[in-house]
Amino acid sequence: MTAPILVPTRDAILCAVECLRAGQLVAFPTETVYGLGADARNPAAVRRIFAAKRRPADHPVIVHLHEIAQLSDWASHVPPAASALAAAFWPGPLTLILARHTGVSDAVTGGQDRVGLRIPRHPVARELLEAFSGGIAAPSANRFGRISPTTARHVADDLDNAVSMILDGGACDVGIESTIVAFDGDEPMLLRPGGIGGHELRRVLGRAPRLSNADAPRASGTLASHYAPRTPAMLVTADALQAEVAQFTDRDEDIAVLSLSVRKPVDFATVWINASTDPLAYAHDLYANLRALDAANADVILIESVPDSDEWSAIGDRLSRATRGEDDDRD
Ligand code: TXA
Ligand code: MG
Repeated sequence: MTAPILVPTRDAILCAVECLRAGQLVAFPTETVYGLGADARNPAAVRRIFAAKRRPADHPVIVHLHEIAQLSDWASHVPPAASALAAAFWPGPLTLILARHTGVSDAVTGGQDRVGLRIPRHPVARELLEAFSGGIAAPSANRFGRISPTTARHVADDLDNAVSMILDGGACDVGIESTIVAFDGDEPMLLRPGGIGGHELRRVLGRAPRLSNADAPRASGTLASHYAPRTPAMLVTADALQAEVAQFTDRDEDIAVLSLSVRKPVDFATVWINASTDPLAYAHDLYANLRALDAANADVILIESVPDSDEWSAIGDRLSRATRGEDDDRD
């Protein structure tokens, strides 16, 4: 069965709501990446997400909401710092991990005592959430461990026969996943850098959140092998990139390149993408670029490293995971 990719008209949104109420899966756009949605109050429907993604069942999923007033249905305690972040960045690319309300199922939290909550700002996600008027559990709509989807076509390529429909909201604005801030009591901790930058969190919190450590709740996006293309990928500096290109070419090996500052050599035959030097535009295109590089079926993908600064940190995080390969860190 092939899932229809639908223009998100009012009828399509209402049809998606019916699918969700019937316990089916619906893929929908958010400003970060596409989500694979199910009714968060229906554990059987949430379990279908795990089967579709082939993701281990003890991984928690984020519950998407329409408005802040719904927070008290899902979280038992909202620390002042969490309220401040919610007021500043919702709707938007921020996920808060809070103590769960008693009604939240283990299927959603992976058995943990905290739940991930986010109010997205993409207009299609907002219209869907408003019409559904409940929580929609949704991880990124890709197979476990693969590159997150930023277009409806990416979702269809990965999960086609597992979803009832794909709402097409165009290419995602932000292009990388939400920033995740977990609360252990009243203390904020950064679990995953993302669409909201570190300086923006500091501005609202008045200090930097703690960085995640070994005691942190499990987040599959924090596994080393996440966001990986199938082709082996290497992260190299601009200087090393030129030398590596020469070496691989000498050995007659095919390379695909994602560069930032190095120009494509005139005689270069395979895929060479010059990414934007603006971090927002770089993030917007990143997953589509990784998919295009992967599709080149080269022997290796070379990725030029990005600056080590706050505005590039979420991108640096995704690149280092994409280039670490599949290893024992994956669970
Ligand atoms: O931008 C995003 O966050 C996208 C869109 C669709 O909203 N969603 C997304 O979901 O990236 P996912 O499941 O691919 O990544 C969410 C991460 C996972 O690593 C998950 O383990 C973690 O958030 N997470 C969710 N709930 C959690 C919880 N209760 N405790 C700890 N980590 C949690
Ligand atoms: Mg994901």
